[in-house]
Amino acid sequence: MTERQWGVLKAAGALALAAFFNGAAAQSAGAEAASVNAAPAKAAICVECHGPNGNSRIPLHPILAGQTSRYLYLQLRDFQEGRRTNAQMTPIAKDLSRDEARALADYFAAQKPTPNGFKQDAAKAELGRKKSEEVLCTMCHLGGFSGQNEIPRVAAQHHDYIVKQLRDFKARTRTNDAGNMTAVANTLSDADIENLAQYISGL
Ligand code: HEC
Ligand code: HEC
Repeated sequence: MTERQWGVLKAAGALALAAFFNGAAAQSAGAEAASVNAAPAKAAICVECHGPNGNSRIPLHPILAGQTSRYLYLQLRDFQEGRRTNAQMTPIAKDLSRDEARALADYFAAQKPTPNGFKQDAAKAELGRKKSEEVLCTMCHLGGFSGQNEIPRVAAQHHDYIVKQLRDFKARTRTNDAGNMTAVANTLSDADIENLAQYISGL
């Protein structure tokens, strides 16, 4: 069998599986959610800081719910291997196996983000929107900052966390971005950072 034929077969299998799950969901939405979204054991540690289902209520603790799985996994690896450091996260990440990190990334990515409760300053948010267009943030982060693969979703992330990350990239205390964000952040003033965070946290 050629690789292409195999690919078609696999796709057909995935469709059959999806149909099966849809059928099951129609019968019992609750049971399906429990089997697909079962939390890995170590998620109990994470939710202490990142909130129930990864919907953190602490402004400096990032919301993980709805983040891309690939990005979450890569960040855990970066904390493990010292490319990104944080006094709270580094020891926790070092304690995870690769399989655990993958399962946690998939789990939090599959959770529904809930509103972050931030009260936006409309004038600053408008300046932030203009700045994001000028700097072409969404060329990488996609429209509405929804993210894809290794590029994070920033939409509706906590204001304070966004400010901290942009400052960290600018000061080069966070450098695990292959140069993308440190270069962009270098062009931003403190006011730009504040306005951008006002805008994006309200998306
Ligand atoms: C003691 C509090 C604490 C616990 C427990 C904790 N974290 Fe974190 N985590 C943080 C903080 C604080 C940050 C932000 C670090 C920074 O400012 O760069 C973070 C960042 C992250 C990030 C990067 C998110 C992003 O948007 O870049 C991931 C992924 C993450 N944590 C996953 C986990 C997982 C998975 C667990 C459980 C195994 C966990 N965390 C447990 C405090 C915690
Ligand atoms: C050239 C592509 C590119 C552009 C342009 C870009 N970003 Fe990013 N951004 C990235 C990548 C890639 C990462 C993840 C870096 C990593 O792996 O640690 C990131 C990370 C971030 C983070 C950290 C998210 C988190 O959860 O920790 C924020 C906040 C952010 N970008 C905001 C912006 C803003 C605001 C702009 C425009 C002013 C922008 N980005 C422009 C590629 C880009």
